[in-house]
Amino acid sequence: MRLEGKTALVTGSDQGIGKAIAVRLAQEGADVVINYRSNAASAAETLKEVEATGRQGFVVQADLSKIADTKHLVDEGVAHFGKLDILVNNAGVEKRADFWDVTEEDYNTVISTNMTGVFFTTQRFVQQLIAANQGGKIVNISSVHEDLPFPHFTSYCMSKGALRMMMRNLAIELAPLGININNIAPGAIETPINTKLLNDPVLLASLQHNIPLGRLGKPEDVASMAAYLVSDEANYVTAATFFVDGGLIWNYHEQ
Ligand code: BGC
Repeated sequence: MRLEGKTALVTGSDQGIGKAIAVRLAQEGADVVINYRSNAASAAETLKEVEATGRQGFVVQADLSKIADTKHLVDEGVAHFGKLDILVNNAGVEKRADFWDVTEEDYNTVISTNMTGVFFTTQRFVQQLIAANQGGKIVNISSVHEDLPFPHFTSYCMSKGALRMMMRNLAIELAPLGININNIAPGAIETPINTKLLNDPVLLASLQHNIPLGRLGKPEDVASMAAYLVSDEANYVTAATFFVDGGLIWNYHEQ
């Protein structure tokens, strides 16, 4: 049990990668704050799975595109469990459109959730660590698209690239406080964000062809990396991005 006695906040943990991470951290011994934006029923499902491990879960609704909600989320978690040791910034959205058609509304949704929301959730988390005079661990779920272009998803790539620089800056600024921060960059993972892709056999086959390991990832493939990075085994690991993508990012083919 690598996380005995720890408490973790996992944003967007009602589904997909966030849910798998919440359950995995509980299996490793952590109590978990589960966060959802709109789907209370799926958050209740995550809670059930967390509690089935014997650990405690606590569900908080928060829309991370609103700064006030980021503070509320962290404060509720601290009020409930007494402290938070681990933050996993997982919640994220993407909107597909040709660049010339992107609406202000979609742009703002992506940037405020994926970038501003992560910034202020992390700020509140760090403030409570300072108040408690303790260190902690932060993991951002970014994407291969913190590096790799993804045409038609420019705002998404911008937000993930911002997470890369945020992580590098904070690694330096927070190291003296005993706080480690790293990114996990998933490739194509079987989650609701990829529902359209998963239902399009032609698109899916061509994507699989680009993945050296020959399959999409499972949320659990990402969760095992997260469990390592938030554990004491990763105490000397900070300022790095870990790709969990089946080799996707380096698989360039001349047609
Ligand atoms: C995106 C997916 C995409 C995958 C690989 C992820 O960050 O959310 O839509 O399939 O990257 O390109």
